[in-house]
Amino acid sequence: MSVAIRATQVVDDQRLLDLLDAGERERAERRADPHPFVTAHALLRRLVADETGMDPRAIDFERRCATCGTDRHGKPHVVGMRDVHVSVSYGERMAVAAVTRLGEVGVDVEDLESADFDGFGSVTLDPTEAARLAHLHGDALLGVRAQLWSRKEAILKATGHGLVVDPSQVVVSAHDAPAELLEWKAAQHLPGPMQVSDLDVGRADHRAAVAVLTSRPLTVRLQRG
Ligand SMILES: CC(C)(COP(=O)(O)OP(=O)(O)OC[C@H]1O[C@@H](n2cnc3c(N)ncnc32)[C@H](O)[C@@H]1OP(=O)(O)O)[C@@H](O)C(=O)NCCC(=O)NCCS
Repeated sequence: MSVAIRATQVVDDQRLLDLLDAGERERAERRADPHPFVTAHALLRRLVADETGMDPRAIDFERRCATCGTDRHGKPHVVGMRDVHVSVSYGERMAVAAVTRLGEVGVDVEDLESADFDGFGSVTLDPTEAARLAHLHGDALLGVRAQLWSRKEAILKATGHGLVVDPSQVVVSAHDAPAELLEWKAAQHLPGPMQVSDLDVGRADHRAAVAVLTSRPLTVRLQRG
């Protein structure tokens, strides 16, 4: 059993809109720059289609917020396929999608620029993690910050909590060690064992990670482009 990942650069391609459903097109139209959303959701549809044999246009996604229960935001699911778990992440320049039958999945891609703000350590890191970064500077520091941040966000997307859980309460392994959830300090319930893997999305200015709620080791199938 594996987790299938697809990563691509954000593109301006009108044909991708044809893959989306009416609700997605409406959400895309509300954005000042719709291309990241359109690229990401078309990518997710194509990946789910390839993994399940469905027509990408026929896939029905629903969202559910673990905090308030609404279906207007939250973790995405494929309607009628409870054993297929999905996640998507996108920024200005990159989009990543994940599909697996192993368990609930979270994927996250981060631009190094998103980790370039004062107070990053206090907002996102546990003191043990912050101490490991003390000797780093410049792009090396931003790269490690983005890497740790993507692991934490992937974990919190797999659980469905998102940033309702304080990311500094989610302690991950050192950047030069295999990705791992070391400690869950949050008051919220951790639903089960978590496997984490860093992802090489092929761009030096991005970091990405995937997390799956499973006790089985992760085999990642990553396709770029
Ligand atoms: C999930 C979250 C961490 C994503 O942050 P981000 O870096 O801005 O966005 P990403 O591109 O990585 O991921 C976006 C995708 O995550 C997914 N997502 C949203 N909420 C999610 C959640 N709680 N769990 C898992 N995935 C979630 C969606 O598919 C979303 O795509 P969409 O907005 O196009 O539908 C952040 O938006 C968050 O914490 N949201 C939840 C906040 C919340 O629940 N508040 C309480 C409301 S009652």
